[in-house]
Amino acid sequence: MAQTGVRTLETLTPPGESLSALAVLEGVLEEAAPLSPKHRAGLRGDIRALWEELTSEREHRSSDYLSTPPALSAYLRYFLPWNLFRLSSIFSNADFCLPDNGVVIDIGSGPLTVPIALWMSRPELREVPLTFYCLDRVERVLEAGKNVFETLCMRVSGRLPPWKIEIRKESFGASLPERAHLLTAANVFNEFFWKEKGSLGERALETAHTLMSYLRENGSLFIMEPGDPRSASLISALRAALLAEGAAPLGPCPHSLSCPMPGVFRHLLPPEETRQVKGDPNVAPSRFVLPPVAMPKKRDKFPWCHFGLPTTKAPAWLTALSDEAGLPKEKVTLSFLWAARGSMVRPSVGMPESSARPSERERRARAGRGILVRVVSDPFTVQDGSTGQYACSSLGYTMLKRTRGQEPFDSGTLLEITTSPLARNDEKSGAIVLPS
Ligand SMILES: C[S@@+](CC[C@H](N)C(=O)[O-])C[C@H]1O[C@@H](n2cnc3c(N)ncnc32)[C@H](O)[C@@H]1O
Repeated sequence: MAQTGVRTLETLTPPGESLSALAVLEGVLEEAAPLSPKHRAGLRGDIRALWEELTSEREHRSSDYLSTPPALSAYLRYFLPWNLFRLSSIFSNADFCLPDNGVVIDIGSGPLTVPIALWMSRPELREVPLTFYCLDRVERVLEAGKNVFETLCMRVSGRLPPWKIEIRKESFGASLPERAHLLTAANVFNEFFWKEKGSLGERALETAHTLMSYLRENGSLFIMEPGDPRSASLISALRAALLAEGAAPLGPCPHSLSCPMPGVFRHLLPPEETRQVKGDPNVAPSRFVLPPVAMPKKRDKFPWCHFGLPTTKAPAWLTALSDEAGLPKEKVTLSFLWAARGSMVRPSVGMPESSARPSERERRARAGRGILVRVVSDPFTVQDGSTGQYACSSLGYTMLKRTRGQEPFDSGTLLEITTSPLARNDEKSGAIVLPS
């Protein structure tokens, strides 16, 4: 959008390649995972039942719930394509590259959703020799996914990419022969994270520690979860924990200071306990406390960082199936995090200035002298009649303010803004106000 003082750097939207692959996915599924007449008749009900199971905060879901034929068919035909839509929207713009013979580790891979989304949305990777370790505690879903993946590649491009796909029936934490250039985990942490003992911060530190053990020096990491308050709080906690472990956020966060939309997450460890972390008296407490930013007005739960993407570009077969299952979708929601090991060291944690390496995005923004801003909410009308949209920036919780009638920004858009914030924060929300 060409506006004075506003430059669009990224949008969350699926690329054409993904949309054409999604359009033929229905036929691919028919070929790779055909339904028996009985399962075809029950498909809509099975989708609905699995949706209820997955969206409940139930602690007692069986660990191999995807191993039954009805659940597997429902996952392949409904959840897989919508997750491909979500992932493609993020991957199309993402700032990562994989070298020849690069290693990708996908945790809780299910039907290989992440590898399929990478193939769909990043056609340049179809020529790169890569090794994928796809981990899941259910083998059957991995095998079904491999079949879908190969059938899709053949149908769309007539050949398989030079990718070695190793499927492994393993749980998160299992050891692997190599470390990853890219580590991914989509829709998986919400399945077991909350069952563990300890505070949210402590569990996040433990999870981040395990994640880092899979990642090679300078490797990057991607996590996506459904955009609900609980999962977004988990991601905010993981973000802080990964920073403490030496991996800085690259996206959607436009900065690596405190998260101004952390949901119920408050701190990694209660301040008085920070010195006893892992029994090391020399651990600097500052490692666990991020530099503050402007926060939303005080309340029990802060807003949670999530995005709502319109489904207007989704294939007609998928929207029709969703309607028939009683799950019509105008938007898909998601929360996500990119981070990279060694991508940035915060100067505020006592590192010498010379070793502080700003992330690629921060470098870009500094070059342009603007503030990086990630649009989060839909537009709303402010009391004075102008249009507001909540956003995140290095200033903290931010409200973009525009004159009525100007086109709103899409949720998830990354902007560079060169206008100055108003002297007073928004009274209702506490947000910094940035004319845009
Ligand atoms: C909701 S599915 C997500 C699948 C795929 N990543 C996607 O986004 O479509 C969650 C998957 O994680 C697997 N899973 C759950 N807990 C796991 C664990 N601790 N280790 C490995 N896999 C796990 C489940 O078996 C399931 O296949």
